[in-house]
Amino acid sequence: MRLLNVSRIIYVTMKTIQIVYGSNGGNTQLVCQYIAAHLEALGYSVNNDRCEHFPEDKLTGHDLLILACPTYEHGALEPNFLKSFWPRIQAIDLSQQACVVVGLGDIKYDIDYHIESARTLQTYVETHNGHLIHPSLMVSGQVLPLLDKLVKGWCDRLHLKLEAL
Ligand SMILES: Cc1cc2nc3c(=O)[nH]c(=O)nc-3n(C[C@H](O)[C@H](O)[C@H](O)COP(=O)(O)O)c2cc1C
Repeated sequence: MRLLNVSRIIYVTMKTIQIVYGSNGGNTQLVCQYIAAHLEALGYSVNNDRCEHFPEDKLTGHDLLILACPTYEHGALEPNFLKSFWPRIQAIDLSQQACVVVGLGDIKYDIDYHIESARTLQTYVETHNGHLIHPSLMVSGQVLPLLDKLVKGWCDRLHLKLEAL
């Protein structure tokens, strides 16, 4: 949060966070809803949107962009993310954009490509000149038991990183 003191009037501007996610079975949606609620409680202005109709020209211009996607079919991105969003974001320049990545997976489906979506999204950010400001959140297996520990802890550490920027 920034405080601007202009002619004795103090303006408070909240940092803005845009989350864009793909989800087929609802696990990633749940994780992103949790992240959005927790970061809002920490004082951020958060937009949390599904990827399918998200306009690619709104991908930049935020204090932080969070891209989230689960892994399907031996290491591929979630089918809707892959079909309706991925081709539209290939020409986007992220050079002014701070980013973090959230990947989901389950080792029982594929031991060799476990949470490969996180690596794919990291590579996307890096090859589009974006700035990964925090380690990726990797969520494996059942999501519900991980929300209050793994996901909350990741949000809290991300918050400390954003405060220091
Ligand atoms: C058909 C199918 C294929 C999957 N393939 C992988 C995979 O290759 N690697 C992996 O780590 N997880 C894999 N998973 C696990 C999903 O990524 C995991 O269940 C995730 O939480 C689903 O997220 P969603 O509910 O948001 O769609 C697969 C799941 C299904 C149903």
